Amino acid sequence: MIKELERRVFRRSLEDTRFFRRFARRTAYLLARGDPEAVHELALRELNRFEDVVAEVAPKFDFPDLHVGINGRSVMPFGTAAGLDKNGDALCPLSHLFGFLEPGTVVVQRREGNERPRVAVDDANGEIYNAQGFPNKGLYNFLRNAASYRERGGEAPLLISICGIPPEIGRFEMAYRELEELLDRLCPYADGFVWNPFSPNTVALTALRTPEEFRRSADTIAEKAEGKLKLVKMGPYDRDGRQQWLDLVDAWIEGGGDGIVAVNTYMVPREKIPARNWGYPSAGRSGPFLKEYRQLAVRDCRGAFPDSFIIATGGIDSGEEAWHALQAGADALEGYTPYTFHGFGLLPEMASFVQSSLRALGYAALSQFQNDIRRNAMSCAYTG
Ligand SMILES: Cc1cc2nc3c(=O)[nH]c(=O)nc-3n(C[C@H](O)[C@H](O)[C@H](O)COP(=O)(O)O)c2cc1C
Repeated sequence: MIKELERRVFRRSLEDTRFFRRFARRTAYLLARGDPEAVHELALRELNRFEDVVAEVAPKFDFPDLHVGINGRSVMPFGTAAGLDKNGDALCPLSHLFGFLEPGTVVVQRREGNERPRVAVDDANGEIYNAQGFPNKGLYNFLRNAASYRERGGEAPLLISICGIPPEIGRFEMAYRELEELLDRLCPYADGFVWNPFSPNTVALTALRTPEEFRRSADTIAEKAEGKLKLVKMGPYDRDGRQQWLDLVDAWIEGGGDGIVAVNTYMVPREKIPARNWGYPSAGRSGPFLKEYRQLAVRDCRGAFPDSFIIATGGIDSGEEAWHALQAGADALEGYTPYTFHGFGLLPEMASFVQSSLRALGYAALSQFQNDIRRNAMSCAYTG
């Protein structure tokens, strides 16, 4: 009886964004005593507990006209952004809702990350500030989850977010050894990889952000992960950083990479973080604040690299935002922060808005619209 009531509440919070905001999210915060990370863990547990309910609602999340190709599979263009399921704990239930998943960032060794509290939530603006510092249960834990996902017939492509971590600035060899180990072990389960050198909270990574290291990393991944999608997670940039940013993408593609995921969180200093006694000098800000940065990055990348594969992320919290990102040239869309505020019911809302927008322009399928955007970008590139 109680279980049946719980299932109904869970189902409604999956399908109905208003119910999620007004009831499910508030209840989860009460149960978790206001700790956003505990709320997140609770959500992943509930997704597993009610996976059958997730599977039941899944057909409402599928819009065949919107399918895009991801490494040879035809899937919905919406995926989870890295961080949402860092350890692959909820791959099966999430795969019923999303077209593809970006679990991770997976690292070789188990890491606790920074001490809690390290995540602050700004309810008024729908934003998250995080200084998690790469907490992860490590490669071997992830492998168990990935293997079980495949054994259970999990079909949504996995674009696994990975990073070898230099123990200190300049000690790259260790980072490359870790990268190779991640690739060797994860290849059997991955449809693609997203290399993530842009986490704003891990100082030693900054030294990897040069064209030489981007070329070398792309080359390392291309050699080990032949036939899989090879993307790099890019951070946001202000206009004066544009050329440097494009040079990094250029080096990535020259090294054998296929494209980018843009954008990661924006680093802000302590005084801009709306939390009392924030224990870190900075944090990565995500949500609506990133919209402008995401649009700029997607547009610039599509213009400069018409053939690249681009996944947009950063504040995609409505049908309009999803449509803007696709118009700018995105091949697919990811999200994290918006789902924590609105729930997964956002997915069919966004999908039906995109579908109507396509129809209004006379397109029967998203892929046709994307081909035209690519063709336009190519003709602009050729005419200078
Ligand atoms: C709490 C939290 C943890 C994150 N962890 C990762 C991570 O491990 N790796 C990564 O590449 N991005 C990570 N991100 C960044 C997201 O993948 C995404 O790029 C960013 O949040 C912008 O998208 P959004 O506005 O949809 O959240 C994290 C974001 C948040 C909020």
